[in-house]
Amino acid sequence: MVPTLPRLFRTKLPWLLAAAAAMALVSIEATAFLRATPKNATAPVETQTPSAEAGSDHQARRTIDHNSFYDPANPDAARLQRIDEATKAIPYDATGFPDWMRALKEGRITPRSDLSGKAQMEVLDLDIIMKNTKEMPHVRFPHRSHTLWLACSNCHPAPFKPVAGSTEIRMADIFRGNYCGMCHDRVAFITFFSCHRCHSVPQGAAPGAR
Ligand code: HEC
Ligand code: HEC
Ligand code: HEC
Repeated sequence: MVPTLPRLFRTKLPWLLAAAAAMALVSIEATAFLRATPKNATAPVETQTPSAEAGSDHQARRTIDHNSFYDPANPDAARLQRIDEATKAIPYDATGFPDWMRALKEGRITPRSDLSGKAQMEVLDLDIIMKNTKEMPHVRFPHRSHTLWLACSNCHPAPFKPVAGSTEIRMADIFRGNYCGMCHDRVAFITFFSCHRCHSVPQGAAPGAR
């Protein structure tokens, strides 16, 4: 039987994680497979630290160059703005996509609350720690980062009841575009390459500790 994704997570994930940890210990070079074609095989590999310079070389990011969104036969194809140009004033994350949170916090972008720009955002400073994460570090959901530019109604009452612990979330749901995956992988950072950004609270750490 072909294992389904949830089943894979239940049965194989500990092994996958153990293998990944072992590889990380062996040598940082071991993570070189994450890059498309390293320009210099001996250069240190960018893993987590966001960096505008190194990020745009990441394989995930470069897939944008090989997409089929554009019709090359269209005489105006060359006039369409490309992602490199459109995002050149914005810092990139480690996978080479815009780091919107950093852009916001550094004041490089100032999103409007509505079309007129006059309404106030309702910012809520409340972290929810989610602990059904098996062997992974716990998930910190930061309300503040979200409510700087999203309304409560984007998430409440659906897909999340405003009661901590009431939603049962599996990674398979997220990968299919539900719960956090409604936005992550779409308008927000890519789930597959960014486990640590959500799973940021080591198990056993005091709640609220970073
Ligand atoms: C956008 C945020 C986000 C990202 C990115 C993310 N996760 Fe999760 N993950 C969650 C949430 C939320 C839960 C559910 C936690 C709960 O209900 O207590 C979860 C649960 C899990 C679980 C336990 C439930 C299950 O499905 O087995 C595992 C294992 C897991 N994540 C692994 C991963 C791995 C591996 C990655 C990277 C490939 C990853 N996660 C990336 C948010 C995220
Ligand atoms: C991006 C999605 C998102 C937005 C926007 C959002 N929330 Fe939440 N909220 C969540 C999630 C996820 C939970 C946890 C649900 C769970 O654990 O099942 C939560 C939980 C809550 C809780 C329960 C806290 C507790 O301790 O039980 C309250 C209250 C809440 N939110 C209020 C708000 C308010 C008020 C706003 C707007 C200012 C808001 N939320 C905006 C996602 C969001
Ligand atoms: C309604 C859309 C939406 C939903 C649903 C949503 N997010 Fe986000 N999230 C965003 C946006 C937009 C950002 C900022 C853009 C980015 O960082 O790529 C963000 C950023 C984040 C960040 C980075 C915060 C920071 O300060 O660096 C984390 C962590 C995160 N989300 C976790 C989650 C988790 C966990 C869930 C599900 C429980 C979730 N999000 C659900 C839209 C959403």
